[in-house]
Amino acid sequence: MLGQKLTDYYKTRKDVSLIATARGGDRYANPTGYTYQSLDITNEAEVNAVMAQYQPDVVINTAAMTNVDACESDQAGCDALNVEAVKYLVAACNKHNAHLVHLSTDFIFDGTHGPVTEDEQPRPLSYYGNSKLKAEQWVMGNSKSWAILRTVLVYGVVTDMSRSNIVLWAKTNLEQRKTLNVVGDQFRTPTLAEDLAQGCVLAADKKAQGIYNISGKDFMSVFDLVYRVATYFELDRSLLNLSTSEGIKQPAKRPPITGFHIAKAVNELGYKPHSFEEGLALVAKQLSEVSL
Ligand SMILES: NC(=O)c1ccc[n+]([C@@H]2O[C@H](COP(=O)([O-])OP(=O)(O)OC[C@H]3O[C@@H](n4cnc5c(N)ncnc54)[C@H](OP(=O)(O)O)[C@@H]3O)[C@@H](O)[C@H]2O)c1
Repeated sequence: MLGQKLTDYYKTRKDVSLIATARGGDRYANPTGYTYQSLDITNEAEVNAVMAQYQPDVVINTAAMTNVDACESDQAGCDALNVEAVKYLVAACNKHNAHLVHLSTDFIFDGTHGPVTEDEQPRPLSYYGNSKLKAEQWVMGNSKSWAILRTVLVYGVVTDMSRSNIVLWAKTNLEQRKTLNVVGDQFRTPTLAEDLAQGCVLAADKKAQGIYNISGKDFMSVFDLVYRVATYFELDRSLLNLSTSEGIKQPAKRPPITGFHIAKAVNELGYKPHSFEEGLALVAKQLSEVSL
């Protein structure tokens, strides 16, 4: 999702040459205005070859195993992508003097309280959270030039809809008049994918150093979030059942309360996120363009 949004943006920047990479062939809908390079970042030799060929000034690592439950069941796969591949990127960036912008998550925290600042002490509850924390620690300890951008519950429209997100999930299911059990005991600052891309661009332009919280500015429960989606799209809110984390039973433990204070990114990077309802308006606009 983030990779596509960054491609949308950098295609329009005449002063930046984008080398977009992903596994296999290019799946971006309108593949013009950038260079595409197939790259499996778990393959160290491929990472080294691509870095040597293009010698980028900045690398933005948007790849990860992001399915939190899949990380519990495929721990070796999670380690390979979320930890080991990051080590290859750090080494290659150091060798070619590239600045690394690495993406991380609120799931490095145990969620006893929130929103939190960049200085909060991590204590992950899940294998995913633990893998992302290990990668952060490796970047901080070994990278010559780095920024870590932590984010929270990202939503938005992507052309490949095989991966959904909470806003699209809620909208689609409510349109089909399905009853939804939604947790009221998890709190987040949901992040519009375009805002996360904006944070990456600002960090890349400035070669910002250090940890930055990049999320939305509105703090809400997941139930509240889905309720606001239903309200915005004029869908039937009586289909929503207030549930608890205990009630919906997911394999990986989620931190109850996260969400971020974003003042550091606002003040140091000039980060300006949309409000949640502004984000929904952009989602609505993009969905109407997709269906034209
Ligand atoms: N989404 C969220 O709610 C959320 C919340 C907190 C933090 N984050 C972090 O934000 C970052 C971006 O997340 P996202 O939402 O954009 O995730 P995403 O949509 O799941 O994208 C991850 C990408 O990684 C790619 N990938 C997987 N294995 C790879 C490999 N071996 N080599 C190269 N690419 C590979 C996947 O490609 P395929 O399409 O080929 O599988 C996928 O396109 C991640 O670091 C994530 O941990 C996300």
